[in-house]
Amino acid sequence: MSPQDFEYISTLIKSRSGLVLTPDKAYLLESRLMPIARKQGLKGLDELIASMRARRDETLTVEVTEAMTTNESFFFRDIKPFDLLRDEVLPPILEKRAQQKRLRIWCAAASSGQEPYSIAILLKELGAKISGWKIDIVGTDISHDILKKASTGQYSQFEVQRGMPIQLLLKYFDKTDESWTIKADIRKMVQYKYLNLLENLNGLGNFDIVFCRNVLIYFDAETKGTVLKRIAKLMPEDGMLFLGGAETVLGVSDSFKPVPGKRGVYTLA
Ligand SMILES: C[S@@+](CC[C@H](N)C(=O)[O-])C[C@H]1O[C@@H](n2cnc3c(N)ncnc32)[C@H](O)[C@@H]1O
Repeated sequence: MSPQDFEYISTLIKSRSGLVLTPDKAYLLESRLMPIARKQGLKGLDELIASMRARRDETLTVEVTEAMTTNESFFFRDIKPFDLLRDEVLPPILEKRAQQKRLRIWCAAASSGQEPYSIAILLKELGAKISGWKIDIVGTDISHDILKKASTGQYSQFEVQRGMPIQLLLKYFDKTDESWTIKADIRKMVQYKYLNLLENLNGLGNFDIVFCRNVLIYFDAETKGTVLKRIAKLMPEDGMLFLGGAETVLGVSDSFKPVPGKRGVYTLA
């Protein structure tokens, strides 16, 4: 690929999704975009990029952008944040909202649904403590395809083995042939929506708890700061933000500050 083509495609992907594609990650273009080139009847990436430049086809641009996203996820990822959510973050929030019995949680990069469903199961396991509560769990993502998969709640044996404890698997999933489908009562607790974190977040409403995990790592510092500032606007004073293990607000945003003793958890600054 010529340096001009690399510049064209990486600029386009960054402006559409925030993903920074450095030259050492150029190999990702080959593996992720070749299937699209083939589908278009084109011989390779050079022809695909030439076609994109010439046609400026919005559908193709969206397809290319989505193909470049990394959708890696698993149930109860890193486990500690979920323990913190259950044992330390939720109890004071539930206590403060005991009158309204209203709680809103947002998974801002929900991918194939493992994160929002892990939260839904965790809440369901609280039993009587949340009985009578109106709880919204909203999962958003930039990839239409991955949201479709998330909505089905259907996972392979390999996917459920990654993080889902056996007793919760047997309790909350039905086995169908080779796959496992999350039970309807858990699936219904999560609402999925398309949302690009680079765009306007108006209309989503406010959230007591936000999981924005393992997506900011793909953005540059300026984009991280802008996204965090927008997220902060949707949260009440006592709202809690969860970031991924390799992410932090330090040095990129003054909207949030770390919660001492709770790694990966942040509160409004
Ligand atoms: C690595 S997955 C993280 C999934 C989950 N949060 C976890 O930690 O397991 C990153 C997700 O971010 C989504 N994503 C990337 N850029 C985005 C953007 N600009 N707006 C919304 N979602 C985005 C990708 O489609 C992908 O599903």
